[in-house]
Amino acid sequence: MRSLPIGCCFALFFACAALAQIQYDASRKVWLITSSHSSYAMGIGPTGQLQHLYWGAPLWRIADVPAAQESHDISSFDPHQMLENEEFPGWGGPRYYEPGLKITRANGDRDLVLHYERHSIQENELEIALKDIRDDIEATLYYRVYPDSGIIGRWAVIRNGTNQPITLESAQSATWYMPRGVSYRLSYLSGRWAAETQLNREPVQEGMKILESRLGHTGHNLNPWFAIDPGNADEQHGRVWFGALAWSGNWRIAIEQTPYQQVRVTGGFNTFDFAYPLKPGESLETPVFYGGYSNSGFGEASRLLHQLELADIQPHGLKARARPVLYNSWEATEFNFTEAGQKELAEKAAKLAIELFVIDDGWFGKRNNDHAGLGDWVVNPQKFPNGLNALISYVNGLGMDFGLWVEPEMVNPDSDLYRAHPDWVMNFPGRPRSELRNQLVLNLARDDVKEYIFNVLDKLATEYKISYFKWDMNRTFAEPGWPEVAPEEQKELWVKYVRNLYDIMARLRAKHPNLEIESCSGGGGRIDLGILRYVDEFWTSDNTEAFDRLRIQEGFSQAYAPKLMSAWVTDVPNMNQRSTPLQYRFLVAMQGALGVGANLNKWTDEDTQLAAKMIALDKKIRDTVQFGKLYRILSPRTSDTTANEYVSRDGTEAVLFGFRHSQEYNTVPPIIYLEGLDAHATYRVESIDNKLPNQQQEASGAWLMQNGLQLQLKGDFDSTLVLLHRVQ
Ligand code: DGJ
Repeated sequence: MRSLPIGCCFALFFACAALAQIQYDASRKVWLITSSHSSYAMGIGPTGQLQHLYWGAPLWRIADVPAAQESHDISSFDPHQMLENEEFPGWGGPRYYEPGLKITRANGDRDLVLHYERHSIQENELEIALKDIRDDIEATLYYRVYPDSGIIGRWAVIRNGTNQPITLESAQSATWYMPRGVSYRLSYLSGRWAAETQLNREPVQEGMKILESRLGHTGHNLNPWFAIDPGNADEQHGRVWFGALAWSGNWRIAIEQTPYQQVRVTGGFNTFDFAYPLKPGESLETPVFYGGYSNSGFGEASRLLHQLELADIQPHGLKARARPVLYNSWEATEFNFTEAGQKELAEKAAKLAIELFVIDDGWFGKRNNDHAGLGDWVVNPQKFPNGLNALISYVNGLGMDFGLWVEPEMVNPDSDLYRAHPDWVMNFPGRPRSELRNQLVLNLARDDVKEYIFNVLDKLATEYKISYFKWDMNRTFAEPGWPEVAPEEQKELWVKYVRNLYDIMARLRAKHPNLEIESCSGGGGRIDLGILRYVDEFWTSDNTEAFDRLRIQEGFSQAYAPKLMSAWVTDVPNMNQRSTPLQYRFLVAMQGALGVGANLNKWTDEDTQLAAKMIALDKKIRDTVQFGKLYRILSPRTSDTTANEYVSRDGTEAVLFGFRHSQEYNTVPPIIYLEGLDAHATYRVESIDNKLPNQQQEASGAWLMQNGLQLQLKGDFDSTLVLLHRVQ
């Protein structure tokens, strides 16, 4: 336990934002985890079961938290076990809600009742071991609190201490409980390819709502994030509980309302097609399920998650650099590479002061379309007769770093790799091998496949001056067979695949410390906090159409920080045949990690000049945008105007992005009430294109937040950016 006296806690919340405390009251067997943002309490009930007691705004007095109580059966249909908020229930006894752990023993016995065994506290981490009432089968629960956000990371390690094998049929990371007896609303992100991270809100009702992926990767369809509020929260106000599961494979979050007014959220490995054997002495660690609480609405909930991601999850933490402006030639050339063509684009990119030049799919093997070549990671000699180094040194000579697209988990049947190793793809012998985009998935759960992929990427990163891999993954799993291992071990593939993927990335980064990685999966199919430990940004969506992007980005920002959101400016008309002005496209993309994916050969001088101006502007504001605090002021879902404001960490700079999509005749633009400023400070206010009301040049924080700004946005797809600089 930290050595802080409990009596100073109250002062601690408000004076020392970056402290957290884990207390244990041994006489009543109660734990209280407290940060300046939230508190979380648990206790041991009279029969030894671990009960959840509190999650919400910060508490300072552990004595206020009542000890865990034993309930009584209401009827033979309503056993007392169902009335208790068990922190991590095993599936055993009369328990019917979503368990934390479900097992089968070698002899068929499946009953598991977990009771408290021991605990330890170290700094900001609490470890509580639960054990089956008869057997040496343990679930050790971990709670790590991050003081800056108050977010708690929870995971479990399941250990088989018996001398018989067991099989885990469900291994969850954590169950979160909302306060009882309240009607709640669930927020979650759903979508599909080219329309990821769409925000949904709906009532929580009795029964269960499952958010999940059975796809092998995180998925475009649902993202492992949730928020729950009592139905009255908005961006600025209200109580919001939220969580994000750090797993890039089959995941599951079950939101459940029991008949006893408990609302529980359980997340971990997807139970679908899950069976993980543990031999005597073996253990399995579950993914981390992060959970946090905001007293100030959805906006603050997002900012707390962003803080966690930037400071505590992404590589290099807060020392990470802002994302460089990149150029990617995919939408310009697709597979039609020539060295001369890429050099021409590189020259144009360099003139715009772009910092990273990335070549995409098509540089290797016989990759002239998506029918062949995946797996053959050797430079295509027809496209690059002088080798890749000729292009790389040219790009470096222009002052840009070089990045390369790879899709190492996949193989086209028409490839030398597949011809040599048809057994390396996941498959059920004698069954079809379903192709999607003409490709099959390598079984990365196999250690020989893992080593092969590591060596391929390590060789590329060693032979060439590559500072960035765009790591793509363009299909979902099918026929996930692993015939080389015993039948009872085959389903381990779901877990081992992801662990090996993480392992390759970790080893690559350790060996090539300057290497950066973007997580891409046909757009936003692999966006989650598990892979974030190894990557610097996410490719948000293959849909780069700016107006669609506003909604995709709004959803993305619920859970993920702007720095992590790769966003390109591309040509129009785009995907859905919509055309928007170039400034609008730039300002949409500048709310994340800016990239350009247009065919620069088609740009007019006017386009080029505007682009150079916007890129220079991006470099000026990107620290504020990427590392600052995001305030979503007007939503593209509910207004003809979208407004997002970013305030720098030190509070000296802010930027306001405004977009008007389709003005109805003679309607005035909405007032944008700024947020997160110092009411007593004065700010210099500057619009990049004179769209401020009354050409106002200075204003107090109070005026900007209370009176707001009515930006002069008109017509269709108008846009502006306002810079605020604190002068007093
Ligand atoms: C899907 C990615 O999302 C695109 O950006 C591009 O890299 C293609 N794959 C290339 O095949």
